Amino acid sequence: MRDLDGRPAIEGGTPIRDAGIGYGGQSITDADKQAVADALEGDYITRGPTVDDFERAIATYVGVDNAVAVTSGTAALHLAGDAAGYGPGDEIITTPLTFASTAHAAVYNDATPVFADIDMETRNLDPEAVRDRITADTAGLIPMHYAGQPCEVDAMLDIAEEHDLTVIWDTCHALGSTWHGEQAGSHRDAAIFSFHPVKNITTAEGGMVVTDDDEFAERIRSLRSFDMDYDPPGHEDEPWYQVTEGVGFNYNFTDLQAALGLKQLERIDEFKQRRREIITRYEEAFADIPGLETPTVKDDVDPMWHLYAVEIDEAFGCDRKRFVNAMHAENIYVQVHYVPLHYHPFFQKSFGYERGQFPNAEQVYDRIVSLPLYPAMDDETVDDVIRAIRRIHEYHE
Ligand SMILES: Cc1ncc(COP(=O)(O)O)c(C=O)c1O
Repeated sequence: MRDLDGRPAIEGGTPIRDAGIGYGGQSITDADKQAVADALEGDYITRGPTVDDFERAIATYVGVDNAVAVTSGTAALHLAGDAAGYGPGDEIITTPLTFASTAHAAVYNDATPVFADIDMETRNLDPEAVRDRITADTAGLIPMHYAGQPCEVDAMLDIAEEHDLTVIWDTCHALGSTWHGEQAGSHRDAAIFSFHPVKNITTAEGGMVVTDDDEFAERIRSLRSFDMDYDPPGHEDEPWYQVTEGVGFNYNFTDLQAALGLKQLERIDEFKQRRREIITRYEEAFADIPGLETPTVKDDVDPMWHLYAVEIDEAFGCDRKRFVNAMHAENIYVQVHYVPLHYHPFFQKSFGYERGQFPNAEQVYDRIVSLPLYPAMDDETVDDVIRAIRRIHEYHE
């Protein structure tokens, strides 16, 4: 442990850490590297049989009939919105406390994203707020499982049944989480995942659409690869004859990524366990720090925590902005998830959103901060974060 006085680095003290750490990141083993190297020796280095294997492995893990791999979670949202039939005039209800791509699933398909406020404890969409936003034009819901804690799945499905809505679950944070014993992502109509390095498993970049609906999956398969019919009827004796059915995309996932994904998926329980251990260590340390609120967990959910988003309030001694800047000065790069989408110029200019519309999301946003949480994080690094927080609190109290 370094010899430090009480002065935080932002006030000229020596930073707690020499080497910076971020809020998330991958855990890569020699076996992961070997799997990618082996895949490079294969006949396919773009979409080949290893992609099929990875899709089957994810479908089995989540407990659904189909999984279709694409280049990112964003691409998965784009195609899922298309396959769901979202189009001009449709209103798609989602949360403002998410990454922009969640709402872009509507925008890419010329539909309108409609934000509904969140529950302040779980930071997930509040079902009552969703009900208030339903109109005759509502066509779908995109709930997002914030930080890995599943939404109120039954309430969302009830709303969807009542109003004949298509549900796409943005499950980017929640691969490995369960709701009432059921895997996040296993519910109707479809769910999407991201395999970005900070996510629960990684393929560097990558995403997946999962669904029990075979037609939906077929549509995604076609769209991800140019919307091309590689075997059109009537041309059986013309093996070169491939034609586009519409305007598709090149969202092909590669065997190299799939090889890494298969190895990562083998370790998902280990990752979940390590994330839980880190949080337990944090929670024990934070029990006596006023003004630092840790996340609330609902009954009957078992999150695979993707983020550890705590809230800083007045009792801590400084506000969230000062806290983030003070942590950065300690070389601990905490992050804020997220600037609410109705604050973004794009959503304001295009859809008329303004500050003040979603008070719960705004209050959470003002206080929230994601502390470092990733499976490769050792106890010493967790303790550095704890020491930095104590130091900042003690200086300001
Ligand atoms: C909730 C949420 N939705 C969508 C995405 C987009 O995923 P990707 O980065 O793989 O495009 C992310 C990841 O940043 C996310 O956190």
